[in-house]
Amino acid sequence: MLAAWTAWCLNKSISVLSVKTPGQPRKIAAQMVFHVLDRGESLNRLLGPQLAKLCDMRQRALAQELTFGTLRWCYRLEAVLNRLLKKPLKKKDRDVHALLLVGLYQLLFLEMPPHAAVSETVSVVRQLGKEWAAGLVNAVLRNAQRQSSILLESVDGAAPARWSHPDWWIKQLQQDWPQDWQHILEASNQRPPMVLRINVARIERSAYLQQLNQLGIEAKRSAFPDTAIRLEEPVAVDSLPGFSRGLVSVQDGAAQLAAPLMRLESGQRVLDACAAPGGKTGHMFESVSDLGALIAIDSDERRLTKVAENLQRLQFKAELLAADAGDPGSWWNGEPFDRILLDAPCSASGVVRRHPDIKLLRQPGDLQTLSHQQQRLLNALWPLLASGGILLYVTCSVFKQENSDGLRLFLDEHHDAAELPLRIQWGKALPVGRQLLPGEQGMDGFYFARLIKA
Ligand SMILES: C[S@@+](CC[C@H](N)C(=O)[O-])C[C@H]1O[C@@H](n2cnc3c(N)ncnc32)[C@H](O)[C@@H]1O
Repeated sequence: MLAAWTAWCLNKSISVLSVKTPGQPRKIAAQMVFHVLDRGESLNRLLGPQLAKLCDMRQRALAQELTFGTLRWCYRLEAVLNRLLKKPLKKKDRDVHALLLVGLYQLLFLEMPPHAAVSETVSVVRQLGKEWAAGLVNAVLRNAQRQSSILLESVDGAAPARWSHPDWWIKQLQQDWPQDWQHILEASNQRPPMVLRINVARIERSAYLQQLNQLGIEAKRSAFPDTAIRLEEPVAVDSLPGFSRGLVSVQDGAAQLAAPLMRLESGQRVLDACAAPGGKTGHMFESVSDLGALIAIDSDERRLTKVAENLQRLQFKAELLAADAGDPGSWWNGEPFDRILLDAPCSASGVVRRHPDIKLLRQPGDLQTLSHQQQRLLNALWPLLASGGILLYVTCSVFKQENSDGLRLFLDEHHDAAELPLRIQWGKALPVGRQLLPGEQGMDGFYFARLIKA
């Protein structure tokens, strides 16, 4: 069997023998891990500008792999590090702590050649101006290398280390999904695939697949949705044929399930209430290009510019509003909507494989706050729906409090709202709506509920 590191190199077309692994990617990864762990910052905004500093694409790929991998396995790595350190490092040396986690990830999960992993990681200590720590980092990593399997086994007794998720999160999953929690955790620790959405109004999926194959980009069509193609390995979007002309977008298969559930028709007035970065906005237009109007709102002005960029690339035009969807008095002109998509802000617990920092940033109390916010948005948007209109509620969460429990509460309080069942083969039926668990057909974890107004 190929060692994980060797396989990774081959996938990135890097010769294992000639690969140069200077300290820079490790330094960036350690900084990212430090910012997430100690400053509670999200990778979304941090990582892009750091990666842009690396001109060599292979170094960028390595920095990204080390950052994501270390955060993905952070709870497990922390437990191992705890066994290797005589006492925790001081608060002022948490940068060294983060670097040690990155070093351990290389040895225990990537099975990178130890000389590269150890010496390059030690060289970063010097770049941090912490010469004194070079001996410590060297000793800890050499120790880890010698006893890797014993160390990993020794931490398995504690659930957070075993599953590399916070304790409260594991308990919540056990309560919500007594049969599936282990499978959810396993799927959430996988590397996610890169999935494309083909604009089938402009090119057939099979024709696009052929174009990819001709370019040597290995890909397969997904069983569903029928717009999805899954790449064997991630590639830069610029290398996708027709990307800049809007033939294709990057979007997980689960997110591609939303637009078809909206039952869109020509001339309808549609509200996309939480639109940024605009993945589903674009898909709605691709499904029916002559909608009467599409109003796309997001409270985050900076993220809303992404919607504009996406729509421009896809050659569609929507009315974009930076506003609080929960305060229609400030933006609604009084004309009802035939369709509303509420892709609600949520814990994102179904997409942890794509955003491993989420499990480190979320706190147990967040679920309560988020479910209040979701109810606020549902309550505020429902009066804007025309009678006979459809509201599709979506989250990328697997926690029931944000999904069917919240929808049950809403239906109990709104007698002009009824569930319009989803007659589909995927996911699990819940008292209200359907849950796609992470990993099902290789997709992210999403929840969908469709409501119709009397
Ligand atoms: C799950 S994301 C939406 C993803 C998007 N629909 C897509 O497919 O690309 C949730 C979005 O809700 C936005 N949001 C959060 N609270 C909001 C509010 N009160 N009003 C409008 N947008 C809000 C966030 O800024 C975030 O962009």
